[in-house]
Amino acid sequence: MCYAIPGKVIEVKERKVVVDYFGERRTAFNEFENLKIGDYIYAQGGFVIDRILEEEAVKILEFWKETFFKLREADLRISKIEDGRSVSKKTKIILDKALEGFKLKREEVLYLLNLEDEIDKEYLYKVANYIRYKFHKNACCVHGIIEISNYCSCDCLYCGIRRSNKDLNRYRMTEEEILRHLDLMINKYGFKAIVIQSGEDSYYDVERLSSLIKEIKKKFNLLLFISINEVGEEGLRKFYEAGVRGLLLRFETINKELYERFHPEGSFEERVNDIKKAKEIGFLLLTGGLIGLPGESLQDIAEDIFFATRLNPEMYTFGPFLPASDTPLSNFEKPDLEIVLKVTAILRLLNPEGKIVSTTAVETLSPQEGRTRAFLAGANSLMLNLTPEHYKTLYRIYPNRIHENESIEYQIEKAIKDLQDLGRAPTDLGV
Ligand code: 5AD
Repeated sequence: MCYAIPGKVIEVKERKVVVDYFGERRTAFNEFENLKIGDYIYAQGGFVIDRILEEEAVKILEFWKETFFKLREADLRISKIEDGRSVSKKTKIILDKALEGFKLKREEVLYLLNLEDEIDKEYLYKVANYIRYKFHKNACCVHGIIEISNYCSCDCLYCGIRRSNKDLNRYRMTEEEILRHLDLMINKYGFKAIVIQSGEDSYYDVERLSSLIKEIKKKFNLLLFISINEVGEEGLRKFYEAGVRGLLLRFETINKELYERFHPEGSFEERVNDIKKAKEIGFLLLTGGLIGLPGESLQDIAEDIFFATRLNPEMYTFGPFLPASDTPLSNFEKPDLEIVLKVTAILRLLNPEGKIVSTTAVETLSPQEGRTRAFLAGANSLMLNLTPEHYKTLYRIYPNRIHENESIEYQIEKAIKDLQDLGRAPTDLGV
């Protein structure tokens, strides 16, 4: 199983290497010693993460070559846009502007968020998908996520693993369990980029996590992301030194009043600071917001999109709010799929070069078509849940999370099929 195509190093410039993939050149940041021209490597998120023996690389490339170009043709066919003749004039003008590479203004984004007409909405998604193809071709990034503990001292109003939820059985994977599980995910299933996520668990503080991360980095070559609560600049630096290269931290909403309403003890400033600091330090940033929080307006959503855009993260992750039982928000409505698709599409118009993930939450919101439609509205990344099966249902941030009863093998098989049906190649070609 393989989630990245090996590339051949064709140039080495200090810490940067130029890598060739079937004639396409990408630059990646290299932290390996003695990497030389002619070596084969795997890159993810712009980092060289592993070397690979030439004979193995040649075999994988041989397999990929034909498939890759066949898939790309299929993607191109699907991504073509028609002339848009039946689209309303205003929508057409705005989307033409986006197609020409001009940045959209607030009122234009709000107009798109308000679209009701089916033809207009479909055209928005089509244009976003076309822009995705133009900038990324059919490459799709598949990361994994392991939720190591559902203990949480936070009490976020929307979250099913909040401290006040006393009915939930809590679990915490031990360090040995995590290392064993990573071994399986990396060496058996071929994952190369993995997020370690946890509730706010005092056992896994910065010190303990940093030593675990060092241990992980000693044993495995992978691109490691961390996803816990805020840890401040010092904490972030410790994580970076230990070997973490990415931070997954949503700002949730950039409306301070809403943020404070939903995060009784959380500090809006600390959250935003951590996100900005992470970027400054050099982490790959994965961030975004919740769509459809009770009391959130379309104006708020537009502001979230612009804020995320200004951050210029590696990957955007915007998912729908899903009411969780045993939380104060259990009786609120979930948003509909269309608003999630609109946000995905608008993010793509504003950020042609960013990666956009089709979230587990959008797939839970619409198990039949959430993933495919997000991919056809500009998304190009997936994050598979690699949490061991006996813990997965306990990480219940909202109920009935899709894939929670699926084995990892099944999730992989399904992801590859869904992607290939759209002409996408489950690979990440570095940056
Ligand atoms: N619905 C959707 N997403 C949720 N999250 C937490 N609770 C919910 C919910 N009820 C998301 C938050 C958090 C991420 C780990 O899970 O955005 O950042």
